[in-house]
Amino acid sequence: QQTAYLKAYERKIKLPPHIEEVGREIGIIAEGLGFKAYLVGGVVRDILLGKEVWDVDFVVEGDAIKVAELLAQKHKVEFHPFPEFGTAHVKVKGLKLELATTRRETYPHPGAYPLVEYASLREDLLRRDFTINAMAVSVNSQDFGTLIDYFGGLRDLKDRLIRVLHPLSFVEDPVRILRALRFAGRLGFKLSKSTERLLRSAVSLGAISSAPKGRIMNEVRLALREERFLEILELYRKYQILAEIFKGITWSPKLEKKLLRLRDIITWHKIEFPKEVMDYGWVYLLVLLEEMKEEEGMAFLRDISAPSWVRETYKIMKRGSKSTEKSLLEAKRNSEVYLSLKNKPLYFLLMLMTKENLKEKVKLYLEKLRFVKVNVEKFRGLSGRELGEAIEKEKMKIMDEALE
Ligand code: CTP
Repeated sequence: QQTAYLKAYERKIKLPPHIEEVGREIGIIAEGLGFKAYLVGGVVRDILLGKEVWDVDFVVEGDAIKVAELLAQKHKVEFHPFPEFGTAHVKVKGLKLELATTRRETYPHPGAYPLVEYASLREDLLRRDFTINAMAVSVNSQDFGTLIDYFGGLRDLKDRLIRVLHPLSFVEDPVRILRALRFAGRLGFKLSKSTERLLRSAVSLGAISSAPKGRIMNEVRLALREERFLEILELYRKYQILAEIFKGITWSPKLEKKLLRLRDIITWHKIEFPKEVMDYGWVYLLVLLEEMKEEEGMAFLRDISAPSWVRETYKIMKRGSKSTEKSLLEAKRNSEVYLSLKNKPLYFLLMLMTKENLKEKVKLYLEKLRFVKVNVEKFRGLSGRELGEAIEKEKMKIMDEALE
């Protein structure tokens, strides 16, 4: 078979309509300038997996910023160029597009930020992390929709494997160790035999500790956003990087059980209170950091740039958890449960639910007690603090008397 892309596997694929539309526009603009354009990276992987995509990466063999500018003009929207990287961002019809000029990357030393030079599509794909992330789809009119796969990405996607493109990948960019485990956890994939060996060897050479902490923490933050964070954590443990990332935590069957309970609690919360759905990764993190000394945990939260409310919740957990647990354990009446938990952050409450002996009481609070309403008409004439107190008293009376 004659291929336009030397030594690449090619096949036509169908793009989702919203991507096809903007892809065709980008292809036409690029051609008008004498360039070629391609969909690349994670978006190709996700389209092949049938996932919905709204963040879409294109590369341009030529000047990506110019293409982005003309696309933005056509749609009368803003575009954001980053000339030092040869990239630009444009939002079109709800899609977040990144257009990048095809480039080659070399690492001056392991773990460093790479040096960038312009290059061909193949070289641009070759600099990437895993075969499943290193495929492209042409959006040029002569072969629109052609999947271009130089490294066996499609086969690995079918075989559910994460495979690096070259043996030095993890050493040059240790963040890829975490990325490999994040994708494996997210997709339920395995590492290929050779990739597993390379990953273990990079870990034992100290790749994680030699990488810039900011980049590692950034990646841990991404892992926290994953639905299957717990699976990723298990993989961190399996490949012995858990202790390097969460210094001061010792994995134990007890901790594992607690995390598994948390997973069930999160599933319950999502179904029961869909409007309250939140960044559950932080709850996992709080449960993990409960194991650490407060100063260590706080330092970790600073390193990972946790939002201030997460840090506040952690403080409440470390300082107030014991007294809340005690009063909750002793609480007999509904109003006592209510008083123990009132005004406590939801993240803290979910964390408390991981404790078997408190679970039912917290559940009662979340499902019923916090929603008890009173008829304020009864308190006409009262205002300010007096009114507040009267309402609270009435609520507690209702909870204790009328709530079955
Ligand atoms: N990439 C890489 N090495 C890295 C980071 C990124 O090779 N350390 C490449 C991969 O080809 C990846 C692409 O850059 O597909 C885009 O990166 P990113 O947006 O982080 O990854 P996605 O694959 O899109 O992942 P996600 O689904 O989590 O957004």
